[in-house]
Amino acid sequence: MALLDVRNITIEYKTESGLLRAVDDVSFTLNDGESLGLVGESGCGKTTLAKSIMRLLAKNGRISEGQMIFKGEDLITKSDDDIRRLRLDEIAMVSQSAMNALNPVHTVGKQLIEGIQAHSKASKREAYQRAVDVFRMVGLEAKRLRAYPHQMSGGMKQRAIIAMALTLNPSLIIADEPTTALDVVVQDHILQQIIRLKKEINGAMILITHDISVVSETCDSIIVMYGGKIMEQAPTSVYFRNPTHPYSLGLKNAFPSITEIGEELISIPGTPPDLHQEQPGCRFSARCPFATPKCEAEVPQLEMIGENHRSACHYNDDVERFRAESKKPETWQAVRERIAQAAAKASDLNG
Ligand SMILES: Nc1ncnc2c1ncn2[C@@H]1O[C@H](COP(=O)(O)OP(=O)(O)OP(=O)(O)O)[C@@H](O)[C@H]1O
Ligand SMILES: [Mg+2]
Repeated sequence: MALLDVRNITIEYKTESGLLRAVDDVSFTLNDGESLGLVGESGCGKTTLAKSIMRLLAKNGRISEGQMIFKGEDLITKSDDDIRRLRLDEIAMVSQSAMNALNPVHTVGKQLIEGIQAHSKASKREAYQRAVDVFRMVGLEAKRLRAYPHQMSGGMKQRAIIAMALTLNPSLIIADEPTTALDVVVQDHILQQIIRLKKEINGAMILITHDISVVSETCDSIIVMYGGKIMEQAPTSVYFRNPTHPYSLGLKNAFPSITEIGEELISIPGTPPDLHQEQPGCRFSARCPFATPKCEAEVPQLEMIGENHRSACHYNDDVERFRAESKKPETWQAVRERIAQAAAKASDLNG
């Protein structure tokens, strides 16, 4: 049985301009000890999906369809008390803004020790010892337990938060851009620590990031989201050798550490779609160099194209040609021109 089995989850936000579908029919499974990278451009629904697992969606958001089975039980129908217990004990979340979650009026150590005691039968002494241990694991000295949050740097606070999240040996760690607010050197260091700790406690992990090169180094499998939908999903080794969806090919071009030496960095022209509007076809079609009228009319299903490898494109069979053409700057330049023409036409119509 999978640790987490996300089945056909759709999540909507109520907004002033109507319903916004941030996550649309997303399914995946995660096994014990496995790490999954969740990537995609800003606004594609990563945080929404992560928060929904913890039942931490904003008030105007709700899961309108699907099931989320964790250790055999549906998280969606659990009581609030049960969910509170699950957080930290079973599922820990480290987010980009986690640093701000520390209470400024108490020392970090007090918060850590109380957290451990609230979730286990540990005595104060045992909780203290555990706090010292995890602080060491994340590279902080024990004396830092006596510090107040304002006495620590951003990187130290972030490590303290990671320590807190991991003290209880959660079976699932959700790390949502855990290092984005930090400088690159600290980022790398902290990420390595999260991965080491994850191994130590044999937890599963969902790592959310903009940076697909991080996923290639740290995750077993990858899910690429776009406009609330999964575009491609694969074991990491397969994905980085054989990216298939045109969106993946575009993302790959945009990352220096992944593109082969000598290849040019090319960004994907245009911006992600407005999720208020129902889109009849593929969400990526407006920015896709290979889009046809069919792509604009029909939503492609996420199709199995290899072992545990799925891609939502009508033209998965043309991937060899797409791979070759996606490496050429002119392929994307044509998209840029197409988008500019469409915008000019739209403003003509409006004016
Ligand atoms: N509370 C909210 N109310 C209304 N819309 C929201 C709310 N939270 C998120 N959204 C919208 O839902 C969509 C998905 O947002 P989400 O934060 O999940 O994206 P993301 O992939 O995590 O982006 P980023 O990489 O920038 O963190 C976006 O269009 C966003 O504007
Ligand atoms: Mg986010």
